[in-house]
Amino acid sequence: MTITEFEQRVLGQQPTGAAHYDAEYFTGEWRDAGNNYSLDTRRKIEDRNPALIKEVFQPRRVLDLGCGPGALMHLLWELGVDVEGIDFAESSKRLATPEVRDRITVGSVDDPSLLPAHAFDLVISREVLEHLTVLQVKQAVANMARMTSRFIYVTTRFHPNPQNLLDFNQQDDLDPTHITLLNKDLLRLMFLLEGCRSRPDLEAKMDWGGKGRVLVLEKVPA
Ligand SMILES: C[S@@+](CC[C@H](N)C(=O)[O-])C[C@H]1O[C@@H](n2cnc3c(N)ncnc32)[C@H](O)[C@@H]1O
Repeated sequence: MTITEFEQRVLGQQPTGAAHYDAEYFTGEWRDAGNNYSLDTRRKIEDRNPALIKEVFQPRRVLDLGCGPGALMHLLWELGVDVEGIDFAESSKRLATPEVRDRITVGSVDDPSLLPAHAFDLVISREVLEHLTVLQVKQAVANMARMTSRFIYVTTRFHPNPQNLLDFNQQDDLDPTHITLLNKDLLRLMFLLEGCRSRPDLEAKMDWGGKGRVLVLEKVPA
């Protein structure tokens, strides 16, 4: 893709509003194979992830950015991890378990005024960036780098076979709100420009399913 095409696509993107992420979004029949956001379903899907997060990062304070109804937060809370979440969908809070509901702040992932800088030693954001416009991704990356004092752990959906750095897909077959599937190197570059380096050793540990959808970054001390 040329820079001119990239520019046109980026400037033409429309953000998805918070109202789209309602109870139907999280629990509706449209999801493949009962892949919904109930705690029981997520416990099975998450499998070893919560224990691995605790073991690999040994975090003292975790933020889940774009936490949805807080299932991963609940599973981390069960393991004694101090965890908070941010999501702009009011339904996230309503659908969350009582144990973590009050730990969720309603707000946008790209809002730099929500929580203090360096407040968490691990910021997680999984299955969120593909829902944002490229311009929102840039702001969210900056916000993650602002809020973490050390690690960032991201999963998202990437362009499967980009020809160059600027190639990105604006849809897939899974979810109509998947509007930005970036070249993985472009996302790494965005983090690097915010002072965060890649940790391929930790990525290998977190990507135990071998899906190639994990990034782990570490903030370079100033
Ligand atoms: C597919 S869900 C992922 C939820 C959770 N992170 C997980 O892995 O199960 C995408 C989440 O991103 C949230 N989201 C999308 N755009 C957002 C934005 N601009 N600010 C905050 N949350 C956003 C949605 O409300 C939704 O909860």
